Amino acid sequence: FHVSMDAQETDKGTYPYYMLKEIDEQPNVMRKLASLYTQESGRPNVNQALINTMKQADRIYIVGAGTSYHAGLVGKKLFEKLTHVPTEVHVASEFAYENPLLSDNPFFIFLSQSGETADSREVLVNVNAHDYKSLTITNVENSTLFREATYTMLLHAGPEISVASTKAYTAQIGVEAILAKALGEAKQQVIAEEFDIRQQLGLVATGMQAIIDEKEMIEDLAKKYFVPTSKAFYIGRGIDQTVSLESALKLKEISYVQAEGFASGELKHGTIALIEDGTPVVGIITQKRTANLTRSNLQETMSRGAKTFTIVRNGLAQEGDTIIIPDVDEMITPLLSVVPAQLIAYYTSLNKGLDVDRPRNLAKSVTVE
Ligand code: G6P
Repeated sequence: FHVSMDAQETDKGTYPYYMLKEIDEQPNVMRKLASLYTQESGRPNVNQALINTMKQADRIYIVGAGTSYHAGLVGKKLFEKLTHVPTEVHVASEFAYENPLLSDNPFFIFLSQSGETADSREVLVNVNAHDYKSLTITNVENSTLFREATYTMLLHAGPEISVASTKAYTAQIGVEAILAKALGEAKQQVIAEEFDIRQQLGLVATGMQAIIDEKEMIEDLAKKYFVPTSKAFYIGRGIDQTVSLESALKLKEISYVQAEGFASGELKHGTIALIEDGTPVVGIITQKRTANLTRSNLQETMSRGAKTFTIVRNGLAQEGDTIIIPDVDEMITPLLSVVPAQLIAYYTSLNKGLDVDRPRNLAKSVTVE
């Protein structure tokens, strides 16, 4: 007899939702990027023509939408640290129509999981019309942005089906880190020469797994803090601030909690007025220099009634801290600090009885401007 089977159903295996499967796949994606884009010696394995072109650039422009834009914000930090090339990040839909002032020799990086986002494509069409050189970093071979850019790098994350992006975000950061290392080395930047990206990606993979192994504890936190609330905040400084934006977006997309990611020092200049009794505020603390500052900003919210906890890098933890992430180089902590936030969003959505993979009003890939 005939058994009809939904191919996607089989792909999901024993997972209730693709999102959890895709979160779980992240350690393997990191290992894959390390083995495909670095040599055993630790040297990056990146297209030499791409590096030669990028070496000529006096400024890097990163363009993306949604989660890919957030991956770009991390990329800016990586490129500026490892290559010393000034780097701007732009929301695609804004960049396309603002006639931005460009440097003499710009280089464009397009970040897009799907490679089909119309807002990003509009920018690429303009870039090509001016004969500027570009790179598309995407998960989908032969997608529109893949075909139309000068250079391409694939994310190798495997199909991402859940609307809320998880493994594509971390893969984008992984590829940016490898590329920044390669360009930095080509520009003889000592910090790039000393940055062992291959070893770091191995540490990240193990670290991600350790966080994922704590998922029951993270589900308890989601139930306690986020299921009962209609608003929440993630705060952090520097690179942690960029992760706070992505963490809040995850929560908004699939659990419909009105969440905001914020620079922790800026909260007190207005937005702190929104804190009420019981409002959850999560501090992301991975950078030694600013750890105590973010802690005191958390304290400010607590004294106004907020319920707080931290996602904190091992070594910076203090009493009362909740989710400890393993130690990796400060430049790439987003690869770990975002994982608890992904799981928090997942379990909040799940425990509210929502369709995690297919949130209302959203599409996986948006092909209109
Ligand atoms: C849509 C999706 C988002 C995604 C954004 C950019 O809005 O719902 O999850 O981040 O598009 O997609 P891209 O494929 O260009 O990364």
